[in-house]
Amino acid sequence: DSFDLLVINGLVVTASDTANYDIAIKDGKIALLAPPGVLDVKKATKVIDAEGGYVMPGGIDCHVHLEEPALFGGKGRSSDTFETGTRSSICGGTTTIVAFAPQPKTIPSLLQVLEDTHARARGNCYTDYSFHLLVGYPGEQALSEFPRLRELGISSLKIYMTYAALQLRDDEILDVLLASRKEGITTMIHAENGDVLNWMTKKLEERRLFAPKYHATSRPQIVETEATNRAIALAELMDAPILVVHVSSPSAAAHLRNAQTRGLPVYAETCPQYLFLTRGDLDKPDFEGAKCVCSPPPRESSDDHEAIWIGLANGTFTVLSSDHCPFMYDDYETGKKSIISKDYPEGRFSGIPNGCPGVETRLAVTLSANRLPLQKFVEVTSTNAARLYGLYPQKGTILPGVSDADLTIWYPPGKLGTFKLTNSMLHHNVDYTPFEGMELNQWPRYTILRGEMVWDRDGGGLLAKKGCGKFVARGKSTLPGPRKQGEWDVSAF
Ligand code: URP
Ligand code: ZN
Ligand code: ZN
Ligand code: ZN
Repeated sequence: DSFDLLVINGLVVTASDTANYDIAIKDGKIALLAPPGVLDVKKATKVIDAEGGYVMPGGIDCHVHLEEPALFGGKGRSSDTFETGTRSSICGGTTTIVAFAPQPKTIPSLLQVLEDTHARARGNCYTDYSFHLLVGYPGEQALSEFPRLRELGISSLKIYMTYAALQLRDDEILDVLLASRKEGITTMIHAENGDVLNWMTKKLEERRLFAPKYHATSRPQIVETEATNRAIALAELMDAPILVVHVSSPSAAAHLRNAQTRGLPVYAETCPQYLFLTRGDLDKPDFEGAKCVCSPPPRESSDDHEAIWIGLANGTFTVLSSDHCPFMYDDYETGKKSIISKDYPEGRFSGIPNGCPGVETRLAVTLSANRLPLQKFVEVTSTNAARLYGLYPQKGTILPGVSDADLTIWYPPGKLGTFKLTNSMLHHNVDYTPFEGMELNQWPRYTILRGEMVWDRDGGGLLAKKGCGKFVARGKSTLPGPRKQGEWDVSAF
């Protein structure tokens, strides 16, 4: 047999196993795994020697905002396009992203929104990609389109309990959960109580407390915890699977853990910002703290980080995503006014668009911290995302004859030494990283997308051509779904 590519001498790590295998790739798929030395390198068109580095399924980032209009406060449109965001992604070892197709309250049709988002992505991506519908207006038309969405390969959506442009009432959330449950769609929920944090913001502004650090004051943990608990209650009532996105609060995590212990199909996501940033990062001279403004906010201390690490290790968190939501710190379009700097009209935290870039740094900052068993790292950064969002086992694992040949190949441990992360290393269209100066000891050495080398850090960097990424139609989640034992027989609705 001849192969297109052999990856030899790697330590192959999947969510279930760690072993020395050589990997053979043909026609974009994983063809074979064999013990070292069995496969004949002379029969391969190309050979990569991993030199003992980890070989993992390509990273999957299922929480990425690209080319979205101003929905998250402030006036900023997210600064990464599908082109620049997926370019950044591939250079950081992530081969598949699921971005949002945002439905503002002014557009009744989700199919229209999906089509518009396809048009923005098509031909522009460096990674494989799909979309979650971001449902801002779950009216009759939108809800009636759910079956068609499933036919078009969309099996998840996101809803919000905050942000004026997107916030849903509880009855609207029930509408979405019921329709989702019927179609086998997973509902992602942004759990913060928008009414409470708006009230808090108003009170702070009355006292002229405008600095970025008051963003955190305006939404303390209880704002997240209450909404998380309510989301769980609504999901239990409808017996519908949910994923609570970007969890930052240990007490919210405890509620999620409790729901899981009761056997509910309640899943949770966290992000590197909640492992590495604190409220103190919002408290910097000038308006620099704006660079770390996201919602929920970074929490108080390393104790909070510790609780999130524990939740990753013990399975409370199903996935670790970036929540890449990039905004320029300085606005190069106008040359003068800044989107999130102190020049913003009144220079107040409530005018800062919420979100941080991180699609390129997600894997490296987390692996460099050396806090998770390697298999757990693969599980939360790739495999579980594939399972939860209906990409498995085409994506998220290394199954011969089945999986796409998407691989992230790391340096042999110790080979890179330590180095400081700087924004100049990154490939996004953002003028900062919230992780500037962080000490890292790993970075993806090679990224392989469907058998093609798309990133070679020491040999030219980005090798992929724009447009090499394809849309992936997704099936249903393969994680446990409805229990069919709710108090309500939802099939009656
Ligand atoms: O602050 C955040 N998280 N911005 C991104 C939008 C969202 O809610 O995920
Ligand atoms: Zn081929
Ligand atoms: Zn959110
Ligand atoms: Zn987000």
